[in-house]
Amino acid sequence: MTITILAKKGGVGKSTVCLLLHEAFKKAGKSVAIQDWDAQGTSNKALAFINGEQAKPETSYDILLFDTPPNLEHPATAAAVRSADIALVVTSPAPADLWEAEEAVRFVQTKGQHAKVRVLFNKVRKNTILGRLMQESAKQVNVPLNAVHLNARECYQHAVGRGWAALDAAAREEVLQLAVSLMSLGENTQTPESTETQ
Ligand SMILES: Nc1ncnc2c1ncn2[C@@H]1O[C@H](COP(=O)(O)OP(=O)(O)OP(=O)(O)O)[C@@H](O)[C@H]1O
Ligand SMILES: [Mg+2]
Repeated sequence: MTITILAKKGGVGKSTVCLLLHEAFKKAGKSVAIQDWDAQGTSNKALAFINGEQAKPETSYDILLFDTPPNLEHPATAAAVRSADIALVVTSPAPADLWEAEEAVRFVQTKGQHAKVRVLFNKVRKNTILGRLMQESAKQVNVPLNAVHLNARECYQHAVGRGWAALDAAAREEVLQLAVSLMSLGENTQTPESTETQ
C-alpha cells in the first residue's frame, strides 16, 4: 500500500507525519520504507538517524510512504499522488489552512485516479477553540477528514532524530491509531480491485 503525504503549504508537518508513520508501521510488524520526493530531503536525513529504510527500487514493502515537496505544482507531487493508494493531506485546523487543504484534496481528485484522499489535522491544540471546533470547520470546506488527528506534541519534534524512542505513551497510542486508520482505509480500497482481477 502506498501512502502519499502532501500539502499545498510548507511546514505543516508532512515529513514528521511520514516519519511517525514509518515508526508506527514498523512497530506493528510491517515492512515499511520512505521515498522522499522533496529536494530538502528531511525524511531521508531523518531516516539515517533513526535507522529507517529508504525505499529501494524493485523491492516491495507492505507500506511505502511518499514524502512530497511543499508545492502542488511540483511534478514530483503529481507523480507521488498518481501512484498513491491513499493520499493524506496534512493541515492545521485553522480556517485559512483548510482552504489550502481543500485545494490539495481537489488536486488529488484530479491527479490520483485511484487514490483515496483524507485530510489529517496535525498540530492540534486540544484546549483551544480551534481544537474544539475542528469537526465543524472541516464541514464548512467539505473535506474528507481522517478520523484520527495528531495533537501538537513536543516529542513529535524529537521523533525526527530519535524515532519511536522519543515518543511517550500517549503519543505512541495516537500514532498507532493513525496507522490503523490508514490500514483499514487501505484494506477497503484494495478489496474492489482484487475482486476485479480474479
Ligand atoms: N504534531 C506536531 N507537534 C509538534 N510539532 C510538530 C508537529 N508536526 C510537525 N511539527 C514541527 O513542525 C515543523 C515542520 O514540520 P515538518 O518539517 O514535518 O513539515 P513539512 O510539512 O515537512 O515542511 P516542508 O514543507 O518544509 O517540507 C517541525 O519543526 C516539526 O518538528
Ligand atoms: Mg518536509
